[in-house]
Amino acid sequence: MQECYIKDFPDNIDQEIIIKGWVANRRSSGKLSFLILRDGTGICQVIVEKALLPDTYSEIKKLPLESSVIIQGSVVKEDRAPGGFEVHASGVQIVHESEDFPIGKKEHGPDFLLKNRHLWLRSPRQIAIMRIRDALIRHIRSYFYTNDFTLIDSPILTTTCGEDTSSLFSIDYFDLGKAYLSQTGQLYLEAAIFGLGKVYCFGPTFRAERSKTRRHLTEFWMIEGEMAFFDHKQNLDLQEDFVAYIVQNTIRDKAQELAVLERDLAPLKKIKAPFNRISYDEALDILHKNGSNIEWGSDLGGDDETVITRLFDKPVFIENYPKKTKAFYMKQDPKRSECVLCADLLAPEGYGEIIGGSQREDNLDILMKSISDNGLDPERYDWYLDLRRYGSVPHSGFGLGLERTLTWICGLTHLRETIPFPRMIYRAYP
Ligand code: 4AD
Ligand code: MG
Repeated sequence: MQECYIKDFPDNIDQEIIIKGWVANRRSSGKLSFLILRDGTGICQVIVEKALLPDTYSEIKKLPLESSVIIQGSVVKEDRAPGGFEVHASGVQIVHESEDFPIGKKEHGPDFLLKNRHLWLRSPRQIAIMRIRDALIRHIRSYFYTNDFTLIDSPILTTTCGEDTSSLFSIDYFDLGKAYLSQTGQLYLEAAIFGLGKVYCFGPTFRAERSKTRRHLTEFWMIEGEMAFFDHKQNLDLQEDFVAYIVQNTIRDKAQELAVLERDLAPLKKIKAPFNRISYDEALDILHKNGSNIEWGSDLGGDDETVITRLFDKPVFIENYPKKTKAFYMKQDPKRSECVLCADLLAPEGYGEIIGGSQREDNLDILMKSISDNGLDPERYDWYLDLRRYGSVPHSGFGLGLERTLTWICGLTHLRETIPFPRMIYRAYP
């Protein structure tokens, strides 16, 4: 008898097969039990008749949810059944009779669900999100592959701070003193462009941020691209093309999962180049007109971003921030030295920043001054400064937050459901 996955039922109609999985739901009467079985590839209804299985029927009839089973039976096409097929069982083997599953049909609060994240991951909604995450990652990698980028795996343990020192996780590193969990792979990518031209990295990054917002994790995944001989404008053109590609391909592939989340696809279908581009100064004008009293020189907060994104139906780049709001490595605007050649990309529908990027400072003297102005230890950056000593070139890059992008694509209100095991300021269990 053929072992079979639920996804392969269309090729096994009227065949006797064996499937292995978990009981996601059950309805029983004196003579018939309907099991909804989940096998990791799909769900199907299994019909168990008492007359056919008189010995085991009493146990099957009251089988607790999430029990694991091996079913033998025939695949029958049935349009009314979930998934379009059902299995008429000729044998049921109980692998493990589950204890009472803590997650039931009633509404649970987020705290309870997060504490039970290891079990919550079995629910249809979480399964859908994880499948969309998987597809998004595949399309991200395929974009870089088809555009001649080389993958560079940047280190997670570093001695060079890539963003701001206030959000570093530090660890004791043998006799060398403090090392940090990487906030970004960017500085290492910058070293790699000299041999490889266009490179990217994709890994976990860490920020000891004391933010308890719906947009912050302490451990999140970031995709970063870095390109030699790219100026600020070419950087934005590439980001636009990249974001449109990953969104369109993901929503095409995962329409079924997005339907589980009841995501309206109409706004996502509009995500095609060109995106909107406004300056930081224009963003401030918009905010002032909307009642904000934000001052020039302050960074935009999450609420500010929400106000701005609601005015556009496509993503919007905010360009040329004040130098003092941004990291040390951004290139000073030659026309306006108090600003840098950078842009944040904000996702529409109120989602806000998904990308931070910039042209990089390629002038050794200006870069050294930025490092000391930011209170960083120049000795730790000597290797990075070498990149401006040996064949320095204009170059640019960007970093896209995977979970923020997925939150937007899935239409969720909080990013905690987009990563299998979220790490937040008050949560590192399970
Ligand atoms: O804007 P950020 O800090 O930029 C960098 O790290 C640059 N080194 C990237 C580069 O140019 N190579 O972070 C980039 C993106 C943000 O736009 C956001 O999407 C995400 O990373 N991000 C976070 N996501 C979840 N939780 C956090 N605490 C995040 N911090 C940043
Ligand atoms: Mg940023």
